Amino acid sequence: MEVSTASRIPLEQTGTTQHYRYDTRTTPPDVFEDLSATEWNRLTWSDLGRPYLVDNYSSEREKWENRHGEDMPVEVQWEHFNRRFHSLFMEDPDEATVRARQDLMEHLKEADLHGAVEVVRDLMQTKIWNYVHRVQDAVWDPRGKRALFEGLDVEKPNILFLGAADGYEAMQLLAMYPGGHAVLVDYDEFCKTDRFGNFPEAYPFLGHNPATGSHTVYHREDFDIDFVVSDIRDLDYGKEFDIVISVGLIEHFPDEYKPLVFDFHRRFLKPGGYAIMTTPRRQLRSKLFYVAMGNLMNYGYRELMDARQLGLYAYENGFDIKRAGYIKAHNGLVTQKR
Ligand SMILES: C[S@@+](CC[C@H](N)C(=O)[O-])C[C@H]1O[C@@H](n2cnc3c(N)ncnc32)[C@H](O)[C@@H]1O
Repeated sequence: MEVSTASRIPLEQTGTTQHYRYDTRTTPPDVFEDLSATEWNRLTWSDLGRPYLVDNYSSEREKWENRHGEDMPVEVQWEHFNRRFHSLFMEDPDEATVRARQDLMEHLKEADLHGAVEVVRDLMQTKIWNYVHRVQDAVWDPRGKRALFEGLDVEKPNILFLGAADGYEAMQLLAMYPGGHAVLVDYDEFCKTDRFGNFPEAYPFLGHNPATGSHTVYHREDFDIDFVVSDIRDLDYGKEFDIVISVGLIEHFPDEYKPLVFDFHRRFLKPGGYAIMTTPRRQLRSKLFYVAMGNLMNYGYRELMDARQLGLYAYENGFDIKRAGYIKAHNGLVTQKR
């Protein structure tokens, strides 16, 4: 459906809707702390230490495992994650607060303390999500992502997004480098139907207008995107992509699988193509976020690392690092195959 004129956000605006913040401001400050000058060949793991492991898992996982009498398979962990994460994006925080107050009163009237505690926990999670996503814009972080993605030597790029979920970053890339095409890959069908399928049509992506050489705003409907429901390990593309990107994928692979996950970023790249990777930052704020939200979102193996650790993994696995640094909640790397 075409985005109506009334719901089109012009340039130079920021504000909130019920579900997200929009930000079409074209001027700095963009939140990118640049560590590109790091001498990667001098870094060692004994200097950096290893990533921090987030190990407070959702009680849903334990319930599932008790019911099924087996460990929750990784693919099922992602099915749970995607549904819970999507429900946060879809929740109206004002409505949720009113509902929670009513529920709390009901539980207190019936002296149901356990129920009341659960309502308070849910409300706290709603408030944290609202602050992180809608106030701070730290999940989609368009300003940080634009700053990380700028200056790539590509025209009408062919983009492969590994573990694409809602596909946000491919859309941001297509806005900055228009006329390209993206393949989003995720093995959870729900990402195709709901996370990407129901991505807000009116969300404005600030990008480049090749006709005028200046900024313009794009929407989901403007992009040429295919969604492929597949395990990334089953892909059989040739070396046909200008950009291969993942966002929040590498930290889910323990060290023995790191060479494999980096190889997926290299395998389908054209000569001179870019592999872009981001992972959540190892910082107090992120640790607290996962303490508060782990029950909702943490179903499997998850590391928090810093940009140097991510860079050293990439360097050791055969990538030259063109850009490295911090955006709001993630580390970001732009690399090329060495
Ligand atoms: C943490 S999410 C990425 C973060 C994302 N930006 C978001 O908004 O959720 C990782 C995604 O990768 C997908 N994924 C993980 N392993 C995969 C695999 N082997 N093949 C395909 N998709 C995979 C999951 O289903 C999930 O949607």
